[in-house]
Amino acid sequence: MSLRLKTIIGIASIEAVLLLLLVSMTLDYLKDTNYEGIQKRASTTATLFATTTKDAVLSYDLASLESFVQEVLKNPDLVYARVLGPGDQLFAVAGDEERNLKPFVADLNVQDVDDGIYDTFAEIQEGGAVYGRVELGLDINSLTETITEAQQRSATIAVIEMGLVALFSLILGTYLTRQLQVLTSAAKGISDGHLDIHIEVKGNDEISEVSTAFNSMASNLKEAGERRDLYELELKELNQSLEDRVNQRTVELREKNLQLEQANTEIKQAQARLLQSEKMASVGVLAAGVAHEINNPLGFVMSNLSTLEEYVKNYQSLVAEYESLLQLKDSNERKEQFRKIKSLRDDYDIEFMNEDLDGLLHDTQEGSVRVRDIVKGLKAFSHVDQSDEMQLADINECIEATLKVANNEIKYHCEIVKRLGDIPQTYCMAGPLKQVILNMLLNAAHAIKDKGVIEIETLCADGNIELSIRDNGCGIDQEDIGNLFDPFFTTKEVGEGTGLGLSISYGIIVDNHKGDIRVESELGKGSCFTIVLPVSTEVKK
Ligand SMILES: Nc1ncnc2c1ncn2[C@@H]1O[C@H](COP(=O)(O)OP(=O)(O)OP(=O)(O)O)[C@@H](O)[C@H]1O
Ligand SMILES: [Mg+2]
Repeated sequence: MSLRLKTIIGIASIEAVLLLLLVSMTLDYLKDTNYEGIQKRASTTATLFATTTKDAVLSYDLASLESFVQEVLKNPDLVYARVLGPGDQLFAVAGDEERNLKPFVADLNVQDVDDGIYDTFAEIQEGGAVYGRVELGLDINSLTETITEAQQRSATIAVIEMGLVALFSLILGTYLTRQLQVLTSAAKGISDGHLDIHIEVKGNDEISEVSTAFNSMASNLKEAGERRDLYELELKELNQSLEDRVNQRTVELREKNLQLEQANTEIKQAQARLLQSEKMASVGVLAAGVAHEINNPLGFVMSNLSTLEEYVKNYQSLVAEYESLLQLKDSNERKEQFRKIKSLRDDYDIEFMNEDLDGLLHDTQEGSVRVRDIVKGLKAFSHVDQSDEMQLADINECIEATLKVANNEIKYHCEIVKRLGDIPQTYCMAGPLKQVILNMLLNAAHAIKDKGVIEIETLCADGNIELSIRDNGCGIDQEDIGNLFDPFFTTKEVGEGTGLGLSISYGIIVDNHKGDIRVESELGKGSCFTIVLPVSTEVKK
């Protein structure tokens, strides 16, 4: 339902209710006052007529009564008039004859009248006694007509007024809705994105206020839209520059990454070189002892060889004399040759030579084997071989092999006590592990200045192999304990130690084997280094 129709119906119904109220109240008032007037007039007329006719009734003067009745009927509103004597005896009558034949029924109210005649009466009294009465019929048709006419006019006026009201509200509604339509189409335009809309403001009423507010809203929206477009543009530019920067940074990062990767490879190579140089350093430390150790057997091998050379010469000269003996046929010459051979045998002390020969050969052989073993051990440490890979190995065997190499450096001033327990084989890098053990043994030996004891112990506890190397050497200052595993930390003279031994050991045990190294030490009393290796029965990559 349109607003216009609603306005018309609303105003018309208010108007109708008000009119209905007004008309009904006015008509009621009109009726009441008129009916009251009629009632009063009828009763006054009846009372007056009773008073006028009283004497004639009392004196039975019927002629006078007849003339009174005729006289009173001159009153145009009266339809009939009757005078009754005692015992309702009719004395005089005039007016509507038809009416006079009907029995008299008094009307109490004008409203009760149903035949257009208001029937009323008045008693004729004298000294308190009733002698008769007068009856009158008052015509109220003209009044009823007047009231009906008034009702019809009121209804006509009401209809005309309602029509006019409807017309005016139609005009008003049309005016208002036209303004609203302008606003509606403008709002639609805005929702479609046309922000340039401007409504023409007419007059100075509420609608024009709404139009002004609408115009300012549209212009605000336009401004906001323009600002938003500007921000969007700025944001886009910012995004683009951010993207560019991110791309640039990505390229830079990639370059840095490459450099890092390169640096990493270089570090790894340097580490490998360092590991090798540490190995070589250990070998270097061993060199002096090794030289000494090789010198001994080499000395007696050489002296044995020179004795053997002398023996061989003696045997050769004896063999030559025997050869000559075999050539001789003459018995005297043969006897002479025998004597010569015998004196030669005595000279050479051939029995001693024969006895000594075995010992010499055996000693020479043993000396050569010792030299070969030492050289083999050194080679094992100085060469990069497959022992860098994880392999199933016996740690006790690793200790024995390392001791063989380190012995020369240690055995002259240190007593070695071994307590090698029953431990399982484990996957490990046997080569690097031997290097760790060698470094710890050499460190212990170096810590012992004059004479001391190095105890080597292995045991298996809580799934770990524990290998401890304890010495009763100089011990370590508490301040230094935290630095022991730092690369290049050494208390040794230049040329005696690189300070890499423990730092490399740490890498091998902790990083490669996921184990641990524990240190206990007391200055002046000695130190104990314990390697903890988790037992692993399968290769871990
Ligand atoms: N058993 C020990 N007793 C006393 N001090 C020790 C012991 N083991 C190590 N240290 C101290 O720790 C230092 C570092 O040892 P590390 O093995 O790392 O290097 P280094 O022995 O000095 O040199 P190298 O590289 O030849 O092994 C040693 O210089 C020494 O002061
Ligand atoms: Mg060392």
